[in-house]
Amino acid sequence: MEKELVIVIDFGGQYNQLVARRVRECNVYCEIYSYKTDLAQIKAMHPKGIILTGGPSSCYEAGAATCSPELFAMGIPVLGLCYGAQVMAFALGGEVARAKVREYGKTEVDVDTSSRLFEGVTSHTICWMSHFDYIAKMAPGFRSVAATANCPVAAAECAEKQLYAIQFHPEVLHTVEGSKMLYNFVRNICGCSGDWRMDSFVEENIRAIREKVGKGKVLCALSGGVDSSVAAVLLSRAVGEQLTCVFVDHGLLRKNEGDEVEAVFGPKGNYKLNFIRVNAQERFYSKLAGVDEPEKKRKIIGEEFIRVFEEEAQKIGTVDFLVQGTIYPDVVESGLGGESAVIKSHHNVGGLPDCVDFREIIEPLRNLFKDEVRKVGLELGIPEYLVFRQPFPGPGLGVRIIGEVTAEKVKIVQDADAIYREEIANAGLEGVLNQYFAALTNMRSVGVMGDERTYEYAIALRAVSTVDFMTAEAAKIPWNVLQKVSSRIVNEVAHVNRVLYDVTSKPPGTIEFE
Ligand code: XMP
Repeated sequence: MEKELVIVIDFGGQYNQLVARRVRECNVYCEIYSYKTDLAQIKAMHPKGIILTGGPSSCYEAGAATCSPELFAMGIPVLGLCYGAQVMAFALGGEVARAKVREYGKTEVDVDTSSRLFEGVTSHTICWMSHFDYIAKMAPGFRSVAATANCPVAAAECAEKQLYAIQFHPEVLHTVEGSKMLYNFVRNICGCSGDWRMDSFVEENIRAIREKVGKGKVLCALSGGVDSSVAAVLLSRAVGEQLTCVFVDHGLLRKNEGDEVEAVFGPKGNYKLNFIRVNAQERFYSKLAGVDEPEKKRKIIGEEFIRVFEEEAQKIGTVDFLVQGTIYPDVVESGLGGESAVIKSHHNVGGLPDCVDFREIIEPLRNLFKDEVRKVGLELGIPEYLVFRQPFPGPGLGVRIIGEVTAEKVKIVQDADAIYREEIANAGLEGVLNQYFAALTNMRSVGVMGDERTYEYAIALRAVSTVDFMTAEAAKIPWNVLQKVSSRIVNEVAHVNRVLYDVTSKPPGTIEFE
């Protein structure tokens, strides 16, 4: 049976991945495609619905992102959001104009609950608005089904043709009943039954991987992070000892992390697979000696990682498949899926190993968002502390030690970070903060301990609250927790005499220091 699919057409807005995630939360599978995608290609995928996203352009300007009016005549339900709503109105003969004032932020909206889009929604509710242009005149056949004080057409519909337009952003959590509206569209209007479920994903993929791999050999680079761990376990379930996982300990992991990864995946662990741990600490430290430029450090770590991995792979000999833990945001952000600007080059591994002999790449998580990867992890019985692990950059502590990396500095930052994590856990804040860690600044300053003058390093603590890691706020950690962490670090970690707390948000700061 063909899987139900909703297509999200990307006009380059900032919330576009969020739209797709919300649709998936309704148990409906969806994929993001650029607005430039050929209509014939879209048709051939037999979507049950189409959603047009927001975007930065003005649809009446020459060269603006747009779509063919035919899209609205295929008999497939279409929902336009923000810019997508304007594109729909404009393409079908309505008018879009620039408003006198920008409508931005949480806004009260009255919705007509007789519209199928707003079934079960409170008639007076809160939405998130962010627009300059507005629908000045609806296209023929449409009626307004929502309005705010400044926006007479906050939503419109032509129910007969199953065309719907919403000026605000139901995908953003600030729109209090936004999820309900998207549910109404994909489940009720498009008629999707909700066949996208993680338990069946696991079963189907295990079967598909088995079929594809046959008796072949599979190689996987395991980092201990969520994505590669879930990919490895999925493969191990499918093909058992035909899988070899290589875990490169580059000496830039958190305290005891190498041993923890080995305990789970190694010979004494829970899974049927071949596990190879490479202790390459010294190799990385010597490559990094004397280097203090951040990008150069990242590059060295990425490249050396590949070299080590290649050497191990060559010992194994020819393999048939190489596993990559690519997930859907990587696909979209690298410009392959939607229209989003390339925000960062994929920076986990410095490219594919070119000396490894393999036939094909397997990317079992390629279509999943991070929260779906975690659900798959739980389905597979991976321990919760691994599944809900906070993000950790590929170059590891290399980007949390400002300036040159040395074995001594690694030890300092590992010890400080371990204390910080322990106290955050003691304070019950583990699940509240999205990411937190200690970094070693390259600054030394004068202090006094006992009666002695000291001249030692400063540790910086970072903790952020964020939904998507693209923007973040510095978290307000209770003062007593910070004081306890600070006093423990200065007392217990040699060569540290000062602790700073970073209150910068992102932007303008980034989460990591380098
Ligand atoms: P920044 O520092 O760019 O980080 O604000 C955003 C998020 O990405 C993580 N990060 C990385 N993750 N490889 C990764 O897998 C990397 O090279 C890398 N650099 C940053 C960072 O920890 C944060 O969660």
